[in-house]
Amino acid sequence: MEDLQEWPFTWEGRGGPFTILLAPGVFAPTRTSFEMAEGIRINPGDTVIDVGSGSGVLSFVAARLGAARVFGTDVNPKAIEMARRNAVLLGLATVDFREGSLFEPLVGIRADVVIGDVSGIPDDIAAASDWFPGGFSGGPTGAEVPVAMLEGARDHLAPGGRLYLPTGSIQDEGAVLRAARRIFGPRVLKLRERVLPLPGKITESAMVRRLMDSGVVRFIRRGSRMLWELRIWECTAPPER
Ligand SMILES: C[S@@+](CC[C@H](N)C(=O)[O-])C[C@H]1O[C@@H](n2cnc3c(N)ncnc32)[C@H](O)[C@@H]1O
Repeated sequence: MEDLQEWPFTWEGRGGPFTILLAPGVFAPTRTSFEMAEGIRINPGDTVIDVGSGSGVLSFVAARLGAARVFGTDVNPKAIEMARRNAVLLGLATVDFREGSLFEPLVGIRADVVIGDVSGIPDDIAAASDWFPGGFSGGPTGAEVPVAMLEGARDHLAPGGRLYLPTGSIQDEGAVLRAARRIFGPRVLKLRERVLPLPGKITESAMVRRLMDSGVVRFIRRGSRMLWELRIWECTAPPER
């Protein structure tokens, strides 16, 4: 990565402050990262899996909140390289980043906590924003990757384990929540809800307007501004299997 421009980013959210490096093609932490960090419960000694770890920011939050072991996975090789370097910079040897899709690199590993902040933005919205500089967005409706993550989590959560999931009106949220309830039954609890501004260039895109017209995404108009709703959920696995 010698030829790559890098810049420092100071995380001021829960578990911070700490400074990591970001680089082109690596997802920069957002308000969703911040709200996820606020919502997660980590008990001392927990094993944590952070799916879609990006720069590693939520893995580092989990480690600093007391997790004994943290595994991060990301399908973007640049993100894994950056996250590994960030772990060294922070002196967090308990965090192990592995390249691959979802839980693929974690055969046989079960966790007390899964942080499921994997891409959940429709491909067309990702293309119209600069949120996913390396690609790797959430599928045509933004539900495809999160639903696959929920399916995969069954085999990687310990009994009674907790999965933290962001959803929003910026994706086919109903499809994600139907999958969560099919897998976790009534143990899907809303922790946080926020209304956030939508970058103007997203609403100006013709492809995004088609997603709005077809009802896949829902935005709120307030004066000249467009807003979207973010929600953070805790899904709990049954105590016995
Ligand atoms: C919304 S970003 C979140 C990153 C990080 N948690 C944060 O808060 O900054 C989602 C991440 O999921 C990754 N991703 C997308 N599809 C994936 C997949 N199938 N398996 C693993 N990671 C994936 C992306 O490369 C991206 O880094």
